[in-house]
Amino acid sequence: MKEAVDLLTKRLSGRTPRLALVLGSGLGGLVDAVADAVRIPYAELPGFPQSGVTGHAGTLVAGNLAGRPVLVLAGRAHYYEHGDAAAMRPALEVLAGIGITSLILTNAAGSLKAEMPPGSVMLIEDHINFSGASPLIGESTDRSFVGMSEAYDLGLRTALEQAAGKAGVTLHKGVYMWFSGPNFETPAEIRMARTLGADAVGMSTVPEVILARFLGLRVAACSVVTNLAAGMAAGELSHEETKDMAPVGGEKLAKLLAQFLRDGPAEL
Ligand code: HPA
Repeated sequence: MKEAVDLLTKRLSGRTPRLALVLGSGLGGLVDAVADAVRIPYAELPGFPQSGVTGHAGTLVAGNLAGRPVLVLAGRAHYYEHGDAAAMRPALEVLAGIGITSLILTNAAGSLKAEMPPGSVMLIEDHINFSGASPLIGESTDRSFVGMSEAYDLGLRTALEQAAGKAGVTLHKGVYMWFSGPNFETPAEIRMARTLGADAVGMSTVPEVILARFLGLRVAACSVVTNLAAGMAAGELSHEETKDMAPVGGEKLAKLLAQFLRDGPAEL
């Protein structure tokens, strides 16, 4: 850990971001907007995931976005890749180690609401962990008993909502339900998810939220809707569709995040 923190600190050459963004499937376009950027492939950073999923680049980019210092993780490890819910733990520990205090996660998701169609952006207010996994299983200290009552930081959520209003972006709000993947859900599972109170389903983010809270980071998350969930529309779901559709909502998300960075809390 210390080795990676020292290495990253050196590579950042005096940049001191407080805020980190994690970009989900097909949402990597935002990195092109980072000014004065230093780009570091995960392969050069000890402990960072070597992701094999297409649409997940695996690059750390640090620089300025909308005039604010940020650190962007383009690419994340997923539970479904190796069955390791803690795959992002070393990377997030390194981020906390270099002084990151807030984390904004993004993902591609399936919508459970016809009125939140593909191309929509949803602010995650809360989640349901349906995977049965936790990145903290095996953590032997009492620190593992992390409270999740206010996992999604109210201050960050409010700032994101205000930014959406100002940027003219419709921001839905809802509950994200984590399925392990990598297969998509069945229509019966989606009916169950709706009954249980979910608004969107996806295969990521929740482990990182748990880890972020464990590490004391403030966290917020947004989903970009790439499809209506299984059984809601004709045809089969596919990763191709996720990648093709993500940039549609991704543009709205980029606009919203730029506004958030311009106006958001000064301490970030
Ligand atoms: N289900 C799970 N994960 C997803 C979906 C979905 O419908 N769309 C994008 N990621």
